Amino acid sequence: MAKGTATSFEHLTETELTALLDPDLMPRHIAVIMDGNGRWAELRGLPRMAGHTEGIKSVREIITLCRDLGIAALTIYAFSQENWKRPIPEINALMLLLEHYLQSEMDALIEKGARFRAIGRVNSLPPSALNWVRKVERETAHLDKLMLTVALSYGGRSEIVDAVRRLAQDCKDGKVQPDQIDEPLLESYLSTQGLPDPDLLIRTSGEARISNFLLWQLAYTEMFFTPTLWPDFRRREALIALLEYQQRERRFGQVPGAVYPPSGL
Ligand code: FPP
Repeated sequence: MAKGTATSFEHLTETELTALLDPDLMPRHIAVIMDGNGRWAELRGLPRMAGHTEGIKSVREIITLCRDLGIAALTIYAFSQENWKRPIPEINALMLLLEHYLQSEMDALIEKGARFRAIGRVNSLPPSALNWVRKVERETAHLDKLMLTVALSYGGRSEIVDAVRRLAQDCKDGKVQPDQIDEPLLESYLSTQGLPDPDLLIRTSGEARISNFLLWQLAYTEMFFTPTLWPDFRRREALIALLEYQQRERRFGQVPGAVYPPSGL
């Protein structure tokens, strides 16, 4: 296929975009920073929550797309530790939205064969939202078509601190010797343990930052930054991100033609 850019894909239909995808170059794991909900709403003179609610539709579409294309893992940043600094009414409304999403979507996730898991300091969520998180985790624990990880009250640095703290405790208890500590061992203490590192990170809304998301795991991830606001990031935009990803040459610090890293799934 001739190399294209996001702009050169613009005139193509969804069917045409899908046909251009190379099944052998599909990412195994996509991570998403869903940004721009507030701006989407403000541009329309609506309350910010209207943007978050509309953003749920984009969440649904990207889950379906991953499931359709056989992408094994999707990790979405739904609420960062820094988001606790937002106005209380917005935090409360986001927690209610999360709870409603889990209640209303559980059957659809089961039907899609998606296993749901939350990462982050989820114990800081309000009890009713936390109960739903745990319920959907339990009800989908046996499914394996798509691993859907939702980062809630998540921060990449605190994830690493929590991992190091548990590892230090295991050293103190004599379960681990300091000279046994290597990258795979430290990785096994992270909340994403068992998942391959993301191959592709998508961030919407024109910002080009990682914002404390998956700091360890994104070491070799390809970044796709788009000005599209999250509520407008639908199947079509996701297909374009995938096509652009497939045109990147991934070298992992090696020479051209190097192989992809071994699967962690
Ligand atoms: C960023 O937009 C988005 C968030 C902080 C929340 C993302 C949440 C959702 C899409 C809905 C909930 C998700 C699930 C899975 C239930 P922003 O508010 O920072 O937008 P802005 O930068 O334009 O202000």
